[in-house]
Amino acid sequence: MSRILVTGGAGYIGSHTAHVLMEHGFDVVVADDLSRGHRHNVAPERLHVVSMQDTAALTELMTTGRVEAVIHFAAYIAVGESTREPELYFNNNLSGSLSLLTAMQRAGVKRLVFSSTAAVYGNPMSVPISEDAPFAPVSPYGESKVMVEKVLRWLSDLRGLKSVCLRYFNACGADPAAGLGEEHDPETHLIPLLLRAIRAGTPITIFGDDYDTPDGTCIRDYIHVRDLAEAHVLALESLLSGGESDVFNVGTGSGYSVMEVLRTVEKIVGKRVPYTVGARREGDPPVLVANPDRLQRSLGWSPRSSSLETIVRSAWEFEQKRAAAG
Ligand code: UFG
Repeated sequence: MSRILVTGGAGYIGSHTAHVLMEHGFDVVVADDLSRGHRHNVAPERLHVVSMQDTAALTELMTTGRVEAVIHFAAYIAVGESTREPELYFNNNLSGSLSLLTAMQRAGVKRLVFSSTAAVYGNPMSVPISEDAPFAPVSPYGESKVMVEKVLRWLSDLRGLKSVCLRYFNACGADPAAGLGEEHDPETHLIPLLLRAIRAGTPITIFGDDYDTPDGTCIRDYIHVRDLAEAHVLALESLLSGGESDVFNVGTGSGYSVMEVLRTVEKIVGKRVPYTVGARREGDPPVLVANPDRLQRSLGWSPRSSSLETIVRSAWEFEQKRAAAG
């Protein structure tokens, strides 16, 4: 049974991926400093509370644990926060990754799946976006991911460290049966905020309805976190069977506007979402939709749970559980 180190495995996408890896028969160890992740997302015997900056501890963990490959999620993810605290983002996301890569080199671990983002494209020239679109990040968050992707290209050639970078579009949804879902603090993502607006009765602000889109609100490519997790497993299996370094978008290829998501939430929950329309949020491109052909062709991936209704239903179930648990 291959043992896989999942960094950031107490976070949202990391915990879902760790769960799906175990369903596929992998043995999983998690390294997470719990600065943003949650202890309750990981079985205690699998969790190592360690900072990505602690190269020695990571080296030891991989060496004694006989780790065969790493999936690296540990990073801060809030675009807005990254523009206010750029040092924090470069320090955590870039220098934390460099420390991990040094530890991998020392431990002789040569396979990595890296959690990247559509934010590497910034405001795309055209949609759907293919992987060969240029890097043009518009936030320190996006830039920090570009930097790590570039480091990985060098290490693939110079060190034989084979990596797959997965550029996520809008991760969402939950796995309520596994007790996993979105619990960011503060929450900034659309679907959990729409659900909480209904529960709390306090309006959500729609960030602009004057974009050049059919209903004036931004369009995004929403991908169920379980489908995202499956993409990681396929990327990992490809690397473990000798596959080369590569980069893939992970999205469905279909876009939905903020108002379409809001209406779907109303339909699933059976209640109106209280909302007001506010100003545009800085850095929001009008339309972000993936061209996912490469991932489908190369790794045989296809989204199974990413209809908007399935996404919202799973998120709503999780939100109700979370609220009931206090
Ligand atoms: N939105 C609102 N009101 C809110 C929250 C969001 O109108 O209170 C809108 C946003 O303006 C956007 C859409 O809902 O149009 C989705 O916003 P999210 O914050 O849920 O997601 P983003 O598209 O901003 O961000 C996602 C990831 C980032 C990643 C980015 C890539 O969460 O990590 O896609 O561009 F960087």
